Amino acid sequence: MKARLVVGNWKSYVRSSEEAVKLAKQLKRRSKRAFCETVVCPAHPHLAQVSKALQGSRVRVGGQDVSAFTDEKRTGEVPAALVRDAGATFSLIGHSESRAIHGDSRIKEKLVSALGAGLSPILCVGEPERDPLGNHLSFIEGQLRHVLEGLSKRDAGVLIVAYEPVWAIGKSANEAMKPMELQETAIFIRKVLVDLFGRPLGLAIPILYGGAVEPANAEELVREGGVDGLLVGHASVNYEMFLDIIAGVSKTQK
Ligand code: PGA
Repeated sequence: MKARLVVGNWKSYVRSSEEAVKLAKQLKRRSKRAFCETVVCPAHPHLAQVSKALQGSRVRVGGQDVSAFTDEKRTGEVPAALVRDAGATFSLIGHSESRAIHGDSRIKEKLVSALGAGLSPILCVGEPERDPLGNHLSFIEGQLRHVLEGLSKRDAGVLIVAYEPVWAIGKSANEAMKPMELQETAIFIRKVLVDLFGRPLGLAIPILYGGAVEPANAEELVREGGVDGLLVGHASVNYEMFLDIIAGVSKTQK
């Protein structure tokens, strides 16, 4: 079985570098017993300090996004190479909150830039709303194919897919997707990945779930939802909650 993976998306919740380093140190101290892989994604200005604070621990660091561009005259953009240089080895790509601002058009370039800089991309996909006819499935398939078609097997070997239904993001556990609904969608995403990359690789790509994950639903979502781990937003900046989530997910590791 693949190692379970829990990714914390700190968004802009952490308002100072002191707070970011404090949170990183708390995780470092307490995550030693954790069984599953853990990644935290601080805001770009905190990447280097958080990476330093986590040195020597099992917790790894990711960016929340990268620029689609790799050249130099791009004021305000943060190229993937700089994210990597600040200590990250992962990056979220195509998070719905970023798509809402910048659109969908450059997600593929972002993914390619991340790969080129040696980052493992965590590609976020998810429908804005569910509909009884199942059109959300073709929406998710479109998002996956648009970005992943033509990707080499080597690059797909470091890819992670995060399924985040937009309607569930930022809510509390009882408004999250139910594990049974998740299972159906996870199987669907798995089929698309197998179709794109063939069986061994398509089965090996980790699929995470994100959207209203809290300690109350974390274990169940992984155990019954058929995913390999979780992408956690608001609950990842409360280290007690985040550690409870890691502990819950670790229990599902066989
Ligand atoms: P949430 O956010 O856990 O606060 O719902 C998840 C995300 O946006 O990645």
